[in-house]
Amino acid sequence: MRRKLAAGNWKMNGTAASLDEVRAVAEAHPAPSVDLLLCPPATLIDRMVRAAAGSAIAVGGQDCHAAAAGAHTGDISAAMLTDAGATHVILGHSERRTDHGETDDTVRAKAQAALAEGLVAVVCLGETEAQRDAGETLPVVGRQLAGSLPDAGVTGATLVVAYEPVWAIGTGRVPTLDQIAEVHDVMRAELVGRFGDAGEAIRLLYGGSVKPDNAGEIFATSNVDGALVGGASLAATDFSAVIAALEAAPAA
Ligand code: 13P
Repeated sequence: MRRKLAAGNWKMNGTAASLDEVRAVAEAHPAPSVDLLLCPPATLIDRMVRAAAGSAIAVGGQDCHAAAAGAHTGDISAAMLTDAGATHVILGHSERRTDHGETDDTVRAKAQAALAEGLVAVVCLGETEAQRDAGETLPVVGRQLAGSLPDAGVTGATLVVAYEPVWAIGTGRVPTLDQIAEVHDVMRAELVGRFGDAGEAIRLLYGGSVKPDNAGEIFATSNVDGALVGGASLAATDFSAVIAALEAAPAA
């Protein structure tokens, strides 16, 4: 059985004052029945790790470089994330793919580096609105899934996949439950075909305008093992409600 995961992506938001939200989430969920992850900007990782110490909240980065070290101004290596206390890293988010020209090859190389360092890679993918309108969602997602994941070291404990339709991110628009199920079922089949039992164990998150009021129905959808939450992860009350909805969701 896959343990469910509520993950928050703070994106380029948060300063020291925001750590109160982490403490509030930790207090509200001292012994959650699901895994909890928050991914703050790199500047806050070390402080969030300390704020979350002793709680169930794991802390992750939002990106890492594929190389171990070197002349890459502004970048962060997987080893630097583990050094700061992170245990996870989001990779291939659509904002990275768009803003920084990341390709499936880039994401796969970063995922390899993350796994080699012992980080759990949360690999993101999803179609644009134009691709969905053109009926290309499944081929696009299939290509991204095939191209963005490493061949070696993939297990349910080392890799998470997040389906985030680009048009649903930050827009308040969400696919229908049938559309989410269709993509998640196809991803599951492709992961099992490629990785066997490990493919069955990999958690599949949905991301894109997940809020307290829609989380329950999304979490009851086929092959949805949790969420990667953007805006609603910034405030403890919202994220806490999403966590509660995930705890109440039927077993996978
Ligand atoms: P929102 O929840 O703000 O739509 O963001 C989703 C996302 O991109 C998480 O990585």
